[in-house]
Amino acid sequence: MNIVVSNVKGGVGKTTTAVYVAASAVERGLEPVLLIDADRQASSAEWLDARPIEGVELEEAPSERTVARAMERHQGLAVVDTPPGDERITRAAVERADAVVIPTRAGGVEYSRVVATLELVPSKVPCGIVVCAARLGTNDLSQTVAWWESEQVPIWGIVPERVAIASGPEARLSREGVEAYSAVLRRALRNRPR
Ligand SMILES: Nc1ncnc2c1ncn2[C@@H]1O[C@H](COP(=O)(O)OP(=O)(O)O)[C@@H](O)[C@H]1O
Ligand SMILES: [Mg+2]
Repeated sequence: MNIVVSNVKGGVGKTTTAVYVAASAVERGLEPVLLIDADRQASSAEWLDARPIEGVELEEAPSERTVARAMERHQGLAVVDTPPGDERITRAAVERADAVVIPTRAGGVEYSRVVATLELVPSKVPCGIVVCAARLGTNDLSQTVAWWESEQVPIWGIVPERVAIASGPEARLSREGVEAYSAVLRRALRNRPR
């Protein structure tokens, strides 16, 4: 199974989501989990180099061809981190996805980038939104949730804004983060191919 993490916009939480979803999958007993880094920036790869996660293997695949091959070749569960602003790599990944997770932020300016991402996803592929670095209890957040509900795009998770999550590879994974992303993984796995 391939879970692709995508948003055509950068800085929304793709890499954080990919790493945490992979770690959550190991906790769920799904190891070995393959983390495929399709971003030339290699943020996921650098994260795992700095701070390996037991049970998560890394493959760097920063092109259409390499990401397609990586996604088609493995046997178990893969989580794919994708680059911002590279429609071709993103398209190659989402076309082979069994589920697509779209990280975004709360706030109106973000909608159009999510819509642009959704447009790349084939209609039969299930997808859901994760609101990253969310400020719980704010109007921005409740309006964002209401917006996606009205658009009938499911919200697979709301991950609160936390220093421990923002510290990335500089610290151990945050327990709260792993728990929030376990819920996202559960939603994505509902669509597991049998
Ligand atoms: N839940 C969170 N709380 C606080 N900061 C977060 C959270 N999730 C992501 N971030 C921060 O947001 C920034 C962008 O995240 P990143 O995962 O690198 O996004 P992308 O891969 O889409 O560019 C990073 O500095 C990251 O640490
Ligand atoms: Mg990234």
